[in-house]
Amino acid sequence: MVYQIEMAIISKILLRWYAKNGRILPWRVNPKDAEAGQNPDPYKIWISEIMLQQTNVTTVIPYFKRFIKKWDCIDKLRYADEGDILAFWAGLGYYARGRNLLKCAKELSEKFDGKIPNDKKSLLELPGIGEYTASAIRSIAFGEREVVIDANIERVVCRLFKIEKPVNQSKKDIKKYASKLFPELHSGDFAQALMDFANAVCKPKKPNCNHCPISPSCLSLKLGVVENIPAKPVKKEKPIRRGFVFFIKIQPNSFLLERRPSEGILGGLLGFPTTEWEVIKNKPTLPFNANWTFTKRLVTHQFSHFKLELEIVLGEKRNSKFDSSKYLAVEQQNFDLMSLPTLMRKVYIKAIKL
Ligand code: ADE
Repeated sequence: MVYQIEMAIISKILLRWYAKNGRILPWRVNPKDAEAGQNPDPYKIWISEIMLQQTNVTTVIPYFKRFIKKWDCIDKLRYADEGDILAFWAGLGYYARGRNLLKCAKELSEKFDGKIPNDKKSLLELPGIGEYTASAIRSIAFGEREVVIDANIERVVCRLFKIEKPVNQSKKDIKKYASKLFPELHSGDFAQALMDFANAVCKPKKPNCNHCPISPSCLSLKLGVVENIPAKPVKKEKPIRRGFVFFIKIQPNSFLLERRPSEGILGGLLGFPTTEWEVIKNKPTLPFNANWTFTKRLVTHQFSHFKLELEIVLGEKRNSKFDSSKYLAVEQQNFDLMSLPTLMRKVYIKAIKL
């Protein structure tokens, strides 16, 4: 009983902290408008939560604003061109999210009358929506009671209750304690309160315990172990894949891009032609006859499950005899670097100096 009362007090304190210190974000209803009865827009909550799955708030804000300007509702988004969405997504990474948004918009139109459903089962059946996103949408957009747990909330819960094992071994405990902490009402606000609190106070490094409104209840602070929690999981070395990337100049001032196959990593995106990315670097098959130079210059990039190392091969062709169904010649002055995924931007920046 005492324990339950303490939980209720902690959540009240955090909700009060949020009302005063919560971030004003373009997908949120600010506190004044909320008081006047304005509800969040489920479409905006869905888009923001998809973008926030693997990307931080600061990076997401400008992308979110531009996205909403371009595709302001499900009915517009469903008719979007996949290539346009992927080009828009350039730089955000994890492109499956962009592809799934389009698939999801189509399903929402066909099965749910163009609206986002508020029941968990339907949400979980939609492309790109897993447990976390379904709970976030239900609680933030529809005011349903959910226990929302992301990596930031995990950190706060682990510290508050002194859960010492690495997060990946503590999921059950985290869920148990978080369930006690989340209030029956306003669980969407509470989730966002925890996220903002984790960002501003209970930070990964140098947490601001001196200004923490719930420090009297924090078990890891009491025992002086805040900065050791959450414990770092033993990191597995990422395997390396290697290959070659071709930077092909066409006289006088163009170069060649290629649309990658729709399946696989960076699927459907434009980039410089590459060989297969393999564990062992094999001698490459050159794309066609040209003046080729192996530069020994490497471009590296971290994907979620492996590290990639590509050697730049420069190609120069005096005429424009190449397979134009396979390659796209782009004039340097009309080229928008931002339309390429990050890996390909790195290739361009290195290759152009060679
Ligand atoms: N991270 C994921 N969802 C978020 C939200 N709604 N507010 C702030 N950070 C978030």
